Amino acid sequence: MNNGQWWAVGLSDAIEPGHTLAVVCEGKPIVLFRDEAGQAFALEDRCSHRRVPLSPGPVKPGGLQCPYHGWTFDGNSGRCTDIPNLGREERVPSSYGVTPYPVAEANGFIHVWLGDWAPGEYLPAASYRKTGIEYTGSAVVSLARDHYLDVMLDGPECLLAFTGVQITDFFLGDPRQDGDHLVLDRGAIWKGKGVGPAFVRDYPLVVRTSVPLVGGVITVELLSVDEEPLITICIAATENRRGTTSLCWRGGLHGSTISDSTMRWRFSRVIGRKPFEVFSEIDGNAIAALQIAPSLERIWPSSTASGSYSSFSPEVC
Ligand code: FES
Repeated sequence: MNNGQWWAVGLSDAIEPGHTLAVVCEGKPIVLFRDEAGQAFALEDRCSHRRVPLSPGPVKPGGLQCPYHGWTFDGNSGRCTDIPNLGREERVPSSYGVTPYPVAEANGFIHVWLGDWAPGEYLPAASYRKTGIEYTGSAVVSLARDHYLDVMLDGPECLLAFTGVQITDFFLGDPRQDGDHLVLDRGAIWKGKGVGPAFVRDYPLVVRTSVPLVGGVITVELLSVDEEPLITICIAATENRRGTTSLCWRGGLHGSTISDSTMRWRFSRVIGRKPFEVFSEIDGNAIAALQIAPSLERIWPSSTASGSYSSFSPEVC
């Protein structure tokens, strides 16, 4: 049973007026659609007649029409509003309908509320802010959501990359709880600059990973050592079927300049090269080889260890 919360399930610009988008959230098939006026709706993606998906159906003025026999469902209430083969004197029974889900859009993400209670006010992507040119995407990855969140803490380099930057294994301090997120800083270096002598190694960059303890979205930031933001990525991750996870993300470059960046980084910015990649294919061998460390705090956040994780993290080589 879900405990009642908003989930970011899709990108606002992925649904044009008059179109649908099939998503799965917490294992539930959901169809998102927009009417011609641009309002977004979410319904259970199963017709109440013969249980076929509604998502391939056309958007009509009265709601979403099933592609099989043409029943139409209202986006707000989920009620069936039209059955094409009813006689003139017949009316659509009021009990016919599908489950509707409350919808809210914020910062380019579509959220749906799953829960029996009245929707809460907090939207997971509320804190995301567009910066500069935005890069967006979506994928379904072959990793269960819980494991995806764990790996985002234990080895984010298995799940994403910043152009011209190497994420190292070196944790900069312990994981810390910030509201309902667990936050961890990790050292990063410019690719092609070398890592320097082992005992005086500096990390000119910081990768800050903020992972939700329950619902919510993942935020990954590339920062200068002075905490100037260079890149911010907001990733929504929801449980799909059969141990897979649906992802959608938005992110972009901040305007910050950084004096010791490499030629590769500066040239990439000049030619407008994509500054980051969120992987849609994941290397299982790399994940299996990861040590389980910071993610333990996600499972038992109250048992924050006082020792430094860096004491058992492998050195950069
Ligand atoms: S299966 Fe949808 S109208 Fe018949």
